[in-house]
Amino acid sequence: MKIKIMSIISDDSTDFKKVDINSKNPVTKPETLDCDRNFENCIRPKSFDAYIGQSALKETLKITIAAAKKREQPLDHLLFYGPPGLGKTTLAGVIAEQMGVEIKITSAPALERPRDIIGILMSLQGGEILFIDEIHRLNKVAEEILYPAMEDFFLDMTTGKAQTVKTLRIPLPKFTLIGATTKAGALSGPLRDRFGIIHRLEFYTDDELAQVVKRTAGILNIDIDEGGAYAIASRSRGTPRIANRLVKRVADFALVKADGKITKPVANDALDTLKIDKCGLDTTDRGLLKLIIEKYNGGPVGIETLAAALGEDVRTLEDVCEPYLLQAGLLQRTPRGRKVTQSAYEHLGYKNYTAQQNLF
Ligand code: ADE
Repeated sequence: MKIKIMSIISDDSTDFKKVDINSKNPVTKPETLDCDRNFENCIRPKSFDAYIGQSALKETLKITIAAAKKREQPLDHLLFYGPPGLGKTTLAGVIAEQMGVEIKITSAPALERPRDIIGILMSLQGGEILFIDEIHRLNKVAEEILYPAMEDFFLDMTTGKAQTVKTLRIPLPKFTLIGATTKAGALSGPLRDRFGIIHRLEFYTDDELAQVVKRTAGILNIDIDEGGAYAIASRSRGTPRIANRLVKRVADFALVKADGKITKPVANDALDTLKIDKCGLDTTDRGLLKLIIEKYNGGPVGIETLAAALGEDVRTLEDVCEPYLLQAGLLQRTPRGRKVTQSAYEHLGYKNYTAQQNLF
């Protein structure tokens, strides 16, 4: 598709930020200051060794990177999919670091106008990585600008009006697109087909999350023991982003209510106070399951109905709550809607699953 440029391409880059993942200078980027302002960036691992979990994926990526370096070619375009908080952006940063290139990070909702995506593509230098988060939300026009850019490294554009229309093919430097999505199925076929490498990120084990917790606590100078790390890990829903947030919350609790050290009893106490249960479910998760049990006889019930009843956004339920509930075997998706499992009844303390079923 040819894109008509109505105005001069602007290179204002307010829609994306350039992450200086190469920065190793403690004077210009003091870690404590950065941690106060941007906690996630501060604790982001920058090498495969520091990146915990996803071991099979890491091994494959190391080989892909080594091969690209040997060929002196940019990496193929990569697509990462999986639930939020598993480290897709972090992994893209590690890849850029290993390739020794810059990464430009944006997200599909920020690429509303054609000039947004054109501006970013034209600002890329050879070999650089463009990371687009939530890539399933890219609009049709932006997607069609990306096709020739990804495939042949060209921007196809038209200028002028009606009879005076001119076609332009603007060459782009060879770059790598890394797309991230929580919904691989929502990506259009043509876009998906243009990624040479497609990988799914998996939920983390408790052992892996305990390592993440200890690493984060170390960076933030928080005193924690093995029991404390596992207590936080086991309630973090297989998700490092959640584990990292809980480290901070539990550290606050330890500071105020204990002697500052995170031990197993301190962590459990803090997490109970935060209403995060043994499975890592919060009040929204439990509200969802209870609603299905108490009002809809365990389901099936449509997601829109549930969202309306809970006053939640459908997307939040689908993207944030559901993936872990499905993985934990507490919820099922059926063609007729969502259903809770026997484990959900047991977890929430409903004594007798069959009796509850017969009750309705
Ligand atoms: N923080 C967030 N994700 C991480 C990971 N995979 N390894 C180490 N620290 C992390």
